Amino acid sequence: AQNRLLIKNGKVVNEDNIFDADVYIEDGIIKQLGRNLIIPGGTRTIDARGKFVMPGGIDPHTHFELELMGATSVDDFYQGTKAAVAGGTTTIIDFVIPKGEESLLEAYERYRITADEKVCCDYTLHVGVTSWNNRTREEMATLVQQHGINSFKFFMAYRDLFMLRDPELIEAFKVCKSLGAVAMIHAENGDIIYENTKKLLAAGVTGPEGHEMSRPEEVEAEAVNRACVIANQLNSPLYVTAVSSKSAADVVSGKRADGALIYGEVLAASLGIDGSAQYEQDVLRARSLVTSPPLRPDPTTPTYLIEQIVQDGLQVTGSDNCTFNSDQKALGKHDFSKIPNGVNGVEDRMSIVWHKGVYNGIMDPTRFVAVTSTNAAKIFNLYPRKGVIAVGSDADIVVWDPSSNRVISAETHHQACDFNIFEGMEVYGVPEYVVVGGRVCVDECDLKAVHGFGKFIECPAYPSYVYEVVEEREKRPRGVARSEAEARKYAEEEAVFDK
Ligand code: URP
Ligand code: ZN
Ligand code: ZN
Repeated sequence: AQNRLLIKNGKVVNEDNIFDADVYIEDGIIKQLGRNLIIPGGTRTIDARGKFVMPGGIDPHTHFELELMGATSVDDFYQGTKAAVAGGTTTIIDFVIPKGEESLLEAYERYRITADEKVCCDYTLHVGVTSWNNRTREEMATLVQQHGINSFKFFMAYRDLFMLRDPELIEAFKVCKSLGAVAMIHAENGDIIYENTKKLLAAGVTGPEGHEMSRPEEVEAEAVNRACVIANQLNSPLYVTAVSSKSAADVVSGKRADGALIYGEVLAASLGIDGSAQYEQDVLRARSLVTSPPLRPDPTTPTYLIEQIVQDGLQVTGSDNCTFNSDQKALGKHDFSKIPNGVNGVEDRMSIVWHKGVYNGIMDPTRFVAVTSTNAAKIFNLYPRKGVIAVGSDADIVVWDPSSNRVISAETHHQACDFNIFEGMEVYGVPEYVVVGGRVCVDECDLKAVHGFGKFIECPAYPSYVYEVVEEREKRPRGVARSEAEARKYAEEEAVFDK
């Protein structure tokens, strides 16, 4: 029997348009969109009057069951995707992080075996390239050409664990470009962090405040700038993960204004709260906020970052959900550098962005859709399968009630973690229904996520037109137009990247 669903009377929101339409779904695909649709009898109908009908969220940055710093993050692929769905997110992108001597392909296979049978929503993977050796180039090619991977993350931090140095980054970005894959960067200066950590610990600063002290804003901004310069000189697009400070956001938005192909991601954590509690008395709370790059103590940071997201200085919101329980965080009770890094956010990201942006009157619903779903779909080449309400797209849909509110709490969240960094925050904007691949998985706010229902989605290599434009750029001196007509032509070429 066909699985049919009609979502009636809602306001459909895409990144470029809001319109009144009913959405008819059959077997997991949007089949019709419009008013007065002719549909088969016996179809379940959801009344979305007064609600927004939007593409389900895409969280491009999670770390489920990640072994990091002597602990394993407690949200696994089941609990993590269940929490995602509860919050209105219908696709997540996790990071393959190799263990020890494991090859990239072995690590990829391990993730697939682990995740495929657990996920409650669709997912795909980026691959973290945590060392550079003579197998790496070939393995990256195999992953792109045979395994549906089109993005790789490189680390400028975590010295002695994951860090690549500049000559390796140069090679890495070149390989990505040649494969049509997206280069992603964790941008913090790992050598400086190493130096500062030694100095702080020697001076007796062992508490959680040492985390941010060892890697202040300019340590992030320097690495963001360096990564952008390398990418730009190679005419390579670059995705900067977890832009966490005003200074780093300025670098990304400034480079974009100069015409560079840089995308910036901000975390729900950085939009929802500042990091000042890392410097306060409550050490449990302080440790709970430790993530990298750090949440900043400057209380104006969240507002600044949401403004950047609104103005397109930054393009994507993610969670970096990498949850460790209080007892795991306590591994660093005598040494801040041993606190496992990571925070929650996969469940609350949509509400945080809606509340801080749309509810507060500074963001249009269309921009909300762009930064929670469509832009990630486009960057990772999942569009228009994901990231849009359109005929032929996957029926991953959230029916969003803008006038309901909830108070975020570990008592009621669906994550495995024993605390929630947003504890006590009241947010407007609640997913009343969440449709995952045509199946109603949040039903009148009641979570009915299904273990193993999601699928792995292959990401094809980056669309070739982007690279054609990049090749064109390489033929001329950067930014130099010799006539007004040429300037116009270049502007048109650049505009292709925004499509
Ligand atoms: O602190 C974080 N973000 N932990 C997860 C690993 C990473 O750097 O993304
Ligand atoms: Zn990272
Ligand atoms: Zn991360």
